[in-house]
Amino acid sequence: MAGARKTRVAILISGRGSNMAALMEAARDPAYPAEIVLVVSNRPGAAGLERAAAAGIPTRAIDHTAFADRAGFDAALDATLRAADIDLVCLAGFMRILTPDFVAAWAGRMLNIHPSLLPLFKGTHTHRQALDAGVRLHGCTVHFVVPELDAGPIVAQAAIPVRQDDDPESLADRVIVQERRLYPAVLALVAGGRARLEGTRVVIAEAAPDGALFSL
Ligand code: GRF
Repeated sequence: MAGARKTRVAILISGRGSNMAALMEAARDPAYPAEIVLVVSNRPGAAGLERAAAAGIPTRAIDHTAFADRAGFDAALDATLRAADIDLVCLAGFMRILTPDFVAAWAGRMLNIHPSLLPLFKGTHTHRQALDAGVRLHGCTVHFVVPELDAGPIVAQAAIPVRQDDDPESLADRVIVQERRLYPAVLALVAGGRARLEGTRVVIAEAAPDGALFSL
């Protein structure tokens, strides 16, 4: 539809921001249903902030160490997102637990990418966890954010084989390639209204290609 408002997205990062860069790159396509209007980091020194600024995206650093508690930080974050008229939040390597109040305020409007095939291997060191468990398939998941860490309705997943000689670094190198492919595809589905939350599950419009939901 000509003149339709694109979904206004904020990306939250803590580090290098390679998933962020993949989302920004996808959003350069005029046909993409979302626009990246803001990048926020809780770490002022995050390399991703410079990367976003170089691409012409407004950035904000909200240093979590300047706040007495999580609620204070989350209130500042919430105010920043509202001031920018954000529709949807994408967590992309954002290493900070959000309060239940903040998550409730953005329920159904916040996505996260996690480097494992959830519900396996929540938390950190997911590649080490996968090796220790001896799984043959590993990968990444994009899901809606709920108060429980690394839980929430799954939108899409991508899997890679685990090789005999893999270590956490080699797994991370192959999973991140899939992350950068999957996240832009999922954001397009959600922003385009083709992925809909129904209770604890995500329902995908029939028109969505399988490749956007899972891959091996
Ligand atoms: C990704 O593996 C993401 O899934 C994890 O942290 C990493 C961030 O990488 N939570 P980047 O900052 O997007 O490059």
